[in-house]
Amino acid sequence: MSNVFFQCDGKSMQAPANTTVVEALKLNGEIVPTLCWSPGIEPCLGTCRVCTIKINGKEAAACTQTISENMIIESATDEIRDLQKAIVELLFVEGNHYCASCEKSGDCELQGLAYQMGMTHSRFPYQFTPYELDYTGVHLLLERNRCIHCKRCTDLFVDDKQRKVFSFEGKGSDTLVQMNHKYESELSDHKRKEVVDLCPVGAIIFKGKGFDRPIGTRKFDHWGDKIDV
Ligand code: FES
Repeated sequence: MSNVFFQCDGKSMQAPANTTVVEALKLNGEIVPTLCWSPGIEPCLGTCRVCTIKINGKEAAACTQTISENMIIESATDEIRDLQKAIVELLFVEGNHYCASCEKSGDCELQGLAYQMGMTHSRFPYQFTPYELDYTGVHLLLERNRCIHCKRCTDLFVDDKQRKVFSFEGKGSDTLVQMNHKYESELSDHKRKEVVDLCPVGAIIFKGKGFDRPIGTRKFDHWGDKIDV
């Protein structure tokens, strides 16, 4: 596949045609933060907007765009980094993320990004909207207070019979993730683990189980390490 040539933050770069902007930048050593997307999570959902950069002067999600000849990209500027951080802060205030008591702490991609970006607080007011837990599942607990509506579980996860187990109900800020209880009760061990791992936060967790991995062995225990996409 032939390469296309583009510019990022004033530097000339090249990458194979048909790669996403986020991957094209990575091939050139530029890491764009991502949340709903990561390698192996396909197709790209484009829901979180954490990967927002500027392409030819306009804001766009880097994971949803394909690199093209002569693209002018702004990625690691102060303005873009602050915008990406603001998006992460908004995700925190729209939910109720009490990291210290969350079973996913240390393995949470949202928490990991916040540490990576040096977020200590949000510049936006916390909304503290209470969301109802669904603890009626047989194997899984749905903690909607932590859901960031990334759509990984609703769009990318199916059970062994190819059935969708999760869905969204409602609109806008009233959107709530729902679980089909019959299908959830029939989930195999490996499918349960798959969806718990797929959830980037602690919204889908194992029922009756938590904190089973000691500090130091979890994905984002080494705060400040660069999260490599
Ligand atoms: Fe690109 Fe979520 S990572 S929109």
